[in-house]
Amino acid sequence: MTDRYAVIGNPVDHSLSPRIHAAFAARAREDIEYGRLEAPTDGFAGAAHRFFAEGGQGLNVTLPFKLDAWQWVDSHDDAAAASGAVNTIVVDGNAKRGCNTDGIGLIRDLLDNLGWHLDGARTLVLGAGGAAQGVIEPLKRGGAVDVTIANRTQSKAEALAARFDVASAGLGEVGGGWDVILNATAAGLAGTGGLVAPEVVADGRCYDLFYALDGATPFCRWAADQGAKEVSDGLGMLIEQAAAAFLLWRGVRPDTGGIEKALRSSA
Ligand code: ATR
Repeated sequence: MTDRYAVIGNPVDHSLSPRIHAAFAARAREDIEYGRLEAPTDGFAGAAHRFFAEGGQGLNVTLPFKLDAWQWVDSHDDAAAASGAVNTIVVDGNAKRGCNTDGIGLIRDLLDNLGWHLDGARTLVLGAGGAAQGVIEPLKRGGAVDVTIANRTQSKAEALAARFDVASAGLGEVGGGWDVILNATAAGLAGTGGLVAPEVVADGRCYDLFYALDGATPFCRWAADQGAKEVSDGLGMLIEQAAAAFLLWRGVRPDTGGIEKALRSSA
């Protein structure tokens, strides 16, 4: 029987994950089915339980369920334990293991796809929610220095910074001199993209954890206008986190080359 996988979220109808995993499966010649599973915002546990009870082999977890998934699973891999969030659930005998491939996905995209350097890079993370939480440890491990979390609500930045032993600041008080600036706020596709003073991004490389198929998220557009050296949205990260999940489920690392371009040209 064909193994079944899905992405669970709310909303989930625009998720690109089914297309990405279908491309991986075709390339790796793996026989899988990968669908979308929308759960009510207070109904993660019931929906996940049903999916696995009916024979499902693995879930990707997207907003707003990454913390619910962390609580629901029986065990955590190191990345999930460090970030407090789960984006991939793997069947482990009778138990379910919660993993997190977001961090490795980000690092692969930054280093391998974009060719940005992290080693010794002064790195600023905007936002202190679940998305920020998942990337701090991988950035530090990748060699980022002077890692600073800047958030609209400064107390949240302070709490997260204390947990990961990095610095914190309010969004309005950050100065310039950064090599890499990541947008991990939920401001997303709304607003002008101008979250900080222009000098914060000028001469830096700016990465938005959100994506838009044309690459022009408000943050990317705004940062480019302020003179950022390079900008990128997070579509590459989405594809790389999916590849790491596919490897956990199937034991095969799929070839990700060309998938980003194919998705963008289908917009
Ligand atoms: P996620 O899990 O996607 O990170 P979250 O936990 O709700 O979502 O966190 C949202 C983050 O985006 C927070 O850092 C939030 O700032 P506050 O802590 O001050 O609320 C930030 N955020 C959301 N909308 C924002 C906006 N319009 N401008 C700046 N920061 C914003």
